[in-house]
Amino acid sequence: MDMMHANDPFPLFQEWFETATDEEFEDPNAMSVATASADGRVSARIVLLKEFDRRGFVFYTNLMSHKGDDLLENPSAALCFHWKSLRRQVRIEGRVEQVSDAEADRYFRSRPRDSQIGAWASRQSQPLPDRTVLEERIREFDELYGSGAVLRPTHWSGYRVVPDRIEFWKARPFRLHDRLLFSLERGAWVKRVLYP
Ligand SMILES: Cc1cc2nc3c(=O)[nH]c(=O)nc-3n(C[C@H](O)[C@H](O)[C@H](O)COP(=O)(O)O)c2cc1C
Repeated sequence: MDMMHANDPFPLFQEWFETATDEEFEDPNAMSVATASADGRVSARIVLLKEFDRRGFVFYTNLMSHKGDDLLENPSAALCFHWKSLRRQVRIEGRVEQVSDAEADRYFRSRPRDSQIGAWASRQSQPLPDRTVLEERIREFDELYGSGAVLRPTHWSGYRVVPDRIEFWKARPFRLHDRLLFSLERGAWVKRVLYP
């Protein structure tokens, strides 16, 4: 890793993400997202990064899921990418906001119809008594929408993690890895090299 990178984590993320997209075998956009409830119980799961720019890192999900409950109480999250074959990790932390309805609608429209129906049918993170109950819900929503456009459920949208810390980690021999931390301090990104 070039430690001489400007005080700006975004071009470096873009470069690493493009390399991962070219070289990582499956789901290069998979990342863990950790959330916590108001009383500090932490929970992590994998989601897919769907967009990023200077505003932040966006994933889509059911707002009434476990992570949605956490983010309602405590709108902050930590993301972690591990690109195994590249031996690289990126960690991102920050506050979380919902994307605009227009953004969510645009992304929802780009999804396959079966995924759109699935967003209606799945009550994500609620107990499912029997798989046939889900199949029945899929049939119901499928019939309801028929050949018409499927609307986005209001409980399905995107979260944007607005970063204030981004750390790049690259493996080096003898565990003397490179770590480069960018933190947002009084509105400006500051860069520091960390001990491995
Ligand atoms: C590779 C992979 C990608 C996933 N992508 C998403 C995603 O983009 N959105 C999502 O809601 N769940 C995704 N999931 C499922 C989540 O890991 C999780 O099971 C689900 O969101 C419920 O989490 P919760 O109960 O903590 O809210 C993905 C799982 C895997 C393994």
